[in-house]
Amino acid sequence: MSRFWSPFVKDLVPYVPGEQPKLSKLTKLNTNENPYGPSPKVLEIIKDEANDALRLYPDPNSDVLKSAIADYHGVSVTQVFVGNGSDEVLAHIFHGLFQHGKPLLFPDITYSFYPVYCGLYQIPFEAIPLDDAFQIRIEEYRGINGGIIFPNPNAPTGCFLALSEIERLLTVNNETVVVIDEAYVDFGGESAVSLVNRFPNLLVTQTLSKSRSLAGLRVGFAVGHPDLIEALERIKNSFNSYPLDRLAQLGAAASFADQAYFEQTCSAVISEREAMVAKLSAMDFQVLPSAANFVFCRHRVRDAAELAAGLREDGVIVRHFKMPRIEQYLRVTVGKPEESEMLFSSLKRILAEA
Ligand SMILES: Cc1ncc(COP(=O)(O)O)c(C=O)c1O
Repeated sequence: MSRFWSPFVKDLVPYVPGEQPKLSKLTKLNTNENPYGPSPKVLEIIKDEANDALRLYPDPNSDVLKSAIADYHGVSVTQVFVGNGSDEVLAHIFHGLFQHGKPLLFPDITYSFYPVYCGLYQIPFEAIPLDDAFQIRIEEYRGINGGIIFPNPNAPTGCFLALSEIERLLTVNNETVVVIDEAYVDFGGESAVSLVNRFPNLLVTQTLSKSRSLAGLRVGFAVGHPDLIEALERIKNSFNSYPLDRLAQLGAAASFADQAYFEQTCSAVISEREAMVAKLSAMDFQVLPSAANFVFCRHRVRDAAELAAGLREDGVIVRHFKMPRIEQYLRVTVGKPEESEMLFSSLKRILAEA
């Protein structure tokens, strides 16, 4: 706090990202990164592009990347917006597409950046409770609103809502923008991009941070009606003309060209997730059905904070949210089989203690 801060900055409650520990020996299962590296073809392109051309500004419109995304999703380039991670894309959406006079609706248990953006952009919001099984109930999203947003699969629950439910929501809510945040969709969900040509108020966001193993490159995008995209471009061009650097634009585009690697690594994560669910259940954990690259689980008798602390003693880091309704849950990222081994041998040790 300083006397030079504006009252606005003083009142901000920033997002707290999951820990990025400096020690390399840890089993890091806390921030939903992909355990498999980026496609070797992506790395090759990035290395090639690290040359004298870096003295030049990148393409402000990211045309090559937008074309790759448009081709991949079967939409036109005017339906694609790209940003520095989907967090930046979401920030522009909150700023430019949600009506600021009415409450934005999102689940009570969801991505914790949403209320932070509401604070930053002064948007009122209403957190709609998930049901007792932690599922989104579309009927609850019918009130007056300035927009609706939720992740699908939801985070940190991992639960996936069928596209037919999203369609049902869009049919009744056609006056405000509905955003489906598909950060984890490639691990078993079904994308709502297939609905954007029918619903001009639908915007779908995705990231290359999870299924494409490029969290460090910072690339995310939105797909929707050209009018929605134009609003985002206006905000972006009033804020930062070059949010994606040269390496990010080409590396990200290259990842869409290596479909085989993408499918192979997503399948490896999905099969490891299923193995983890089986083992956790056998150790007396209740595990929510996950369509993501993480599982959300609680032990039937042991305290979640104590479990997280015990795991940390063994160098295994998982995410524990000290929040109402979920304080007894742990979110565990799906890693490689050898990382699961570290997780389970630590859990075995902890659970053996009285
Ligand atoms: C639901 C959800 N949306 C968006 C993001 C942001 O992803 P990124 O900014 O890395 O694209 C995350 C990151 O964890 C997330 O969990």
